[in-house]
Parts: sequence; C-alpha cells; structure tokens
Amino acid sequence: MASNENKVALVTGASRGIGAAVAERLAKDGFTVVINYSGNAAPAEELAKKIEQAGGKALTAKADVSDAEAVRRMFDAAETAFGGVDVLVNNAGIMMLSSLAEADDANFDRQISVNLKGTFNTLREAAKRLRDGGRVVNFSTSVVGLKLETYGVYAATKAAVETLTAIMAKEMRGRGITVNAIAPGPVATDLFLNGKSDELVARMAKMNPLERLGTPEDIASAVAFLAGPDGGWINGQTLRANGGVI
Ligand SMILES: NC(=O)c1ccc[n+]([C@@H]2O[C@H](COP(=O)([O-])OP(=O)(O)OC[C@H]3O[C@@H](n4cnc5c(N)ncnc54)[C@H](OP(=O)(O)O)[C@@H]3O)[C@@H](O)[C@H]2O)c1
Repeated sequence: MASNENKVALVTGASRGIGAAVAERLAKDGFTVVINYSGNAAPAEELAKKIEQAGGKALTAKADVSDAEAVRRMFDAAETAFGGVDVLVNNAGIMMLSSLAEADDANFDRQISVNLKGTFNTLREAAKRLRDGGRVVNFSTSVVGLKLETYGVYAATKAAVETLTAIMAKEMRGRGITVNAIAPGPVATDLFLNGKSDELVARMAKMNPLERLGTPEDIASAVAFLAGPDGGWINGQTLRANGGVI
C-alpha cells in the first residue's frame, strides 16, 4: 500500500489491551479504524472518541468473532460506513490456562471457538471482501515456540492460526494482499496479568534478555509495520515480537 490515507483497518478485540493500542496507532498512521469488541462498549466508544478528537476517523462495531453471522454483519457495517475494508487485524482472543489433565470441555471449546473459529470467521470474510492490495495481521503467541506447561489448548489454537496465515497468504495470489501473523511474548494486559502472582509476573518479565514485559504499544508498532507501506514485502510469515525470549 502506497499510503494509509483513505484505507480502512478493522481491528478485532480493540476495546482494550493490545487491540486498543493497535487501533490507536493505525489511526495515528492515517487509517480509518473499525473498533470491534464483544462485551465492553464503553471503552470502545471512548477510544473512538479519542481518535476522532485527534483528527482521525473511527467506528465501533459489536460482534462476537466466534459468531459467523455477527462477523458478516460487522464487515457489512464497515463497508456501508467507509466503502470497503483494506486491513484486518485479528487481535481478539482469550486465554484459559490449565494442564491437559484438568482442562474441561468448556475450556477447550471456548478457546477453539474464539481463537480459532473466530479467526476463521473473519479470514473467510476478508478473503472474499478485502480490497486488493490489503493486509491481514493475525495474532498468535510466542508460547507456540516456548511450549510452557498449562498453555497447551491456548497454544494449540494459535498454532492453528499460524497455519491458516501461511495458507491464506498463498490463496491471495494475484490480489496484492499480504497475510502475516504476529506472535507476542508476555504483554502487560488483563489477559496476561489476571490470575498471576506478582512474583510470577516478575519472573516471566525477566525471561527475555531485555528483562521487561512487552507493552501494547510495542506490539502495535510491529502491527503498524506489517499493515503499512514498509511491510509490503513480508508475506506468509509469523513475526515473534517478544524482546528475544525465543
Ligand atoms: N497479553 C499477552 O501477553 C499476549 C501474548 C501473546 C499473544 N497475545 C494475544 O494478543 C491478543 C490480544 O490480547 P490482550 O492481551 O490484549 O487481551 P485482553 O486484554 O484480554 O483484551 C482482549 C480483547 O479481545 C476482545 N474479545 C474477547 N473475546 C472476544 C470475542 N469473542 N469477540 C470479539 N472480541 C473479543 C475483548 O473485548 P471485550 O472487552 O468486549 O471483552 C478485548 O478487547 C490475543 O489474541 C492474545 O491471544 C497476548
């Protein structure tokens, strides 16, 4: 893409955490942004207001990504408001840690339905509807490489996302659309911090040689590279953004 002006980026799970930082950064880079969320309308609306006040353009869109019909309606709404979608950032995700012995069916089904089926639902729409020259950035995790205990089901959903990424990149042949994944290491958000002791968080922060947790802005910078003009020659790859932990 030559420039981000007049381009539309749809960011799933953008009400808080990494997704909110990605939406804000892409808006700063000139994209019109669609801020998707599933439950928390207030922070999504607040973010849209903040972007508009800074001179950007934003729309909020409620949709549970695991619901194929809701995802279709979200793309419809984006097209109605802005004429089309150029960039899809598949950030929405959940993490439920458990050993395989302790994981129940609900734990397995929920993570599959949001992380894998949710990504599939948006990719299917994007494959048919993204404008030529567009970009897809999926979200994996560095745990696919680290293979830590209790992350089994979560990491398996994200390994599947990496596979979808590489195959979709090939299926977009001839349309100038790149498809990549970003695989963060630990980032200070609700998803990572909830349920962990301060001591465990401090230990995990020191695992990488830069000896700190990632910030949502660290990840947003890497997404902005893949979604913007400088990332145009990167295709079908998974970029581990993690301070060097693996
Ligand atoms: N944080 C980390 O350490 C880390 C590391 C590696 C990878 N990741 C990946 O990075 C992505 C973002 O994580 P995060 O840490 O920013 O998580 P987070 O702070 O928990 O935020 C999750 C976001 O996803 C949305 N969401 C959840 N379920 C959804 C659904 N079914 N449909 C639509 N939106 C949904 C939430 O919306 P509501 O507010 O409406 O619920 C929220 O905006 C995830 O894919 C995660 O797996 C995170």
